[in-house]
Amino acid sequence: MASIPTTQKQWILTPNPAGVGAVALVDGPVPELGPTDVLVNIKAASLNYKDHIVRLPTPFSPTVPTVPLSDGAGVVVATGAKVTRFAKGDRVAALFSPQAYTVGRYPVPGPSLGAQLDGTARPYGAFDEQSLVRIPDSISFEEASTLPCAGVTAYNGLYGVKERAVRAGDWVLVEGTGGVSLFVLQLAKAAGASVVATTSSDAKAAKLKALGADHVVNYKTDADWGASARALTPGGVGFDHIVDIGGHATLPHSIKASRFGATITVVGKSDYSPNAPQEPDITTAIYFQTTFRGVQVGNREHFEGLVASIEGTKWTPVVDKVFEFKDLEEAYKYLVSGSHVGKVVVKID
Ligand SMILES: NC(=O)c1ccc[n+]([C@@H]2O[C@H](COP(=O)([O-])OP(=O)(O)OC[C@H]3O[C@@H](n4cnc5c(N)ncnc54)[C@H](OP(=O)(O)O)[C@@H]3O)[C@@H](O)[C@H]2O)c1
Repeated sequence: MASIPTTQKQWILTPNPAGVGAVALVDGPVPELGPTDVLVNIKAASLNYKDHIVRLPTPFSPTVPTVPLSDGAGVVVATGAKVTRFAKGDRVAALFSPQAYTVGRYPVPGPSLGAQLDGTARPYGAFDEQSLVRIPDSISFEEASTLPCAGVTAYNGLYGVKERAVRAGDWVLVEGTGGVSLFVLQLAKAAGASVVATTSSDAKAAKLKALGADHVVNYKTDADWGASARALTPGGVGFDHIVDIGGHATLPHSIKASRFGATITVVGKSDYSPNAPQEPDITTAIYFQTTFRGVQVGNREHFEGLVASIEGTKWTPVVDKVFEFKDLEEAYKYLVSGSHVGKVVVKID
């Protein structure tokens, strides 16, 4: 194995209180290891919509120059003196929030990579051993780089409350063809559930079918798509699980599509601006006995559950496009264009 350099070319996001933060490829140090740290040679990083959001001035954006992106996968190249969980050569990925390895009744996610902490847009990163997870041997580094945020969020949405975990025979509504939603689709199918997926694009509908969606509804051409999706469930009773990605844009439809006692997991908003429309009235939950559950990514147990699902049924995360490391800005633009199906990845040499 080549020796470990002391410096590296890494991306840095410089916050801009008046607009979009600039990203630049600059020289930086390869981090030194504390006793419980692991040095990971990051082979690939993936983008999430929030990586675009944190370039804007928001309460959860970086306040100082920071290595962007939260998600990546690579190989262990060195370990601190007290590390026991990993050894050189192990294939790993880091948790979105490094402190989220503890499992408790009230999860406290803490600071996250690519926002309050240096992220994965660099060839080498040091991570506490408790914040790392072994990745499946059956998938590439590019595919594994998609797991930490989108994959873990989807897993937490479907499995985070044990007595409500998705199971064979359930019906799951999947919204759009973004990163989180495709993980929901693949996890639901791996569990033996049936899936109705939505998209704005007939071309993307074919890809959803190829991934196992039982039915596809076009939410752009069907103004009452929640009701249409519900009508596709047996007896029109509605969905057991819905992972809502759009807030005010999708929640009214999610509520309409849900069955009595359903779980609606709220993960996102389609408009994060301060003037975004209000979320809908959810008092119908009284009658429908709906469980609304917000999730913020997930903990190490969720990540390990996601890995077990991939290893168990041998499914592969959907990578839409892989960009060169130098082309990170192009990767952001492509993600924001919304033309992707699944994940946008940057390969790190
Ligand atoms: N809470 C958490 O922990 C967490 C974690 C990850 C992401 N999120 C949030 O979850 C959301 C999705 O994230 P992502 O990374 O998966 O995004 P993404 O990859 O950028 O997905 C965007 C896709 O969502 C679909 N979409 C957009 N507006 C829609 C609408 N009104 N109705 C139905 N579908 C719509 C579109 O699919 P089509 O092109 O097929 O129409 C679009 O391509 C974002 O708001 C993100 O911030 C939250």
